[in-house]
Amino acid sequence: QQTERESMMLVTEYAAKFFTKSLYETDEGQSVGLGYLRQRGIRDDIIRKFQLGYSPEQRDALTKQALVHGYKLQYLEKTGLTIVRDDYKADRFRGRVIFPILSLSGKVIGFGGRIIKNDPNTAKYLNSPESEIYHKSRILYGIYQARQEIVRQDCTYLVEGYTDVLSFHQAGICNVVASSGTALTLEQIQLMSRFSHNVTFIFDGDPAGIKASLRGIDMVLAEGMNIKVLLLPDGHDPDSFAKSMSGEELVEYIRSHETDFIRFKTSVLMQDSANDPIKKAQVIQDIIRTISVIPDLIVQSVYVKECSQLLGVEEAFLYDGIRKLKLKEQ
Ligand code: CTP
Ligand code: MN
Ligand code: MN
Ligand code: MN
Ligand code: MN
Repeated sequence: QQTERESMMLVTEYAAKFFTKSLYETDEGQSVGLGYLRQRGIRDDIIRKFQLGYSPEQRDALTKQALVHGYKLQYLEKTGLTIVRDDYKADRFRGRVIFPILSLSGKVIGFGGRIIKNDPNTAKYLNSPESEIYHKSRILYGIYQARQEIVRQDCTYLVEGYTDVLSFHQAGICNVVASSGTALTLEQIQLMSRFSHNVTFIFDGDPAGIKASLRGIDMVLAEGMNIKVLLLPDGHDPDSFAKSMSGEELVEYIRSHETDFIRFKTSVLMQDSANDPIKKAQVIQDIIRTISVIPDLIVQSVYVKECSQLLGVEEAFLYDGIRKLKLKEQ
């Protein structure tokens, strides 16, 4: 007897095969889907490694085929692959390049689909809905392909999106996962920490990227992880940046430009506060709060020292601030 989850995974596995077949073995897939991926410079070995696919324009191409092959409408609907309204059935993904989302053990649990031509009236990416097998907040895109290398390098690179992950692999950097454009969750952090306690955020250099980095820091620290941040030059995302240089250059760039979180946070927050004593006091409070969540006291003391130098305040003052916060918590 199959469980509901098993039945759903059989459907997603079938769909993933359908999408890759559509990409490689149909005229539409080759010209539109493959054409798009090639024009973006994505190599064939990467297309295969990530099982990329294409969903035809036709209203119910996948649904029809799946039903013919004996898959039940119930599970097509539960996985979000088919949208059912009364007697109208339609594929969720149509005319899109497909990025299967794999579980830690390599099973297809969901999909992201990108439109071919950017259009302000259509969401650029469409994702599988939450379901019994797909919980967006619990998975990181690319974790299955990255896990071994994360262990080997003892470090995870965290990027924003699907194509960022692909481009890093293409550059030979495989310890990379994406939060898929949402705020990092506790479950995602715990998933990362199973493989390494070191993470580097590699985000766009725009205000949104800076904000996303700041937001993740305290949660990652509280899980006992070490965090570094690399902000890319404005206008770049990890994908475009990786494509602008060789793999070796990229490794070297990351190594020489990543900064520890305290330096990052201090420099961002101090940018427009350094000359205003009241604002500066707020920044110091904010940083004290961040340091206070670090569970390991030795690690904490290292950052207290660094912070004291960066901000020009006594270590004793910082420790006092941490102590006061702890007292307030009780
Ligand atoms: N995203 C999403 N839905 C959207 C926009 C974004 O789910 N409508 C997620 C995707 O996982 C995407 C990530 O957020 O990969 C980052 O978004 P963005 O930087 O806008 O897209 P890119 O990954 O850079 O995609 P592309 O290079 O194809 O434009
Ligand atoms: Mn651990
Ligand atoms: Mn951005
Ligand atoms: Mn991007
Ligand atoms: Mn991009």
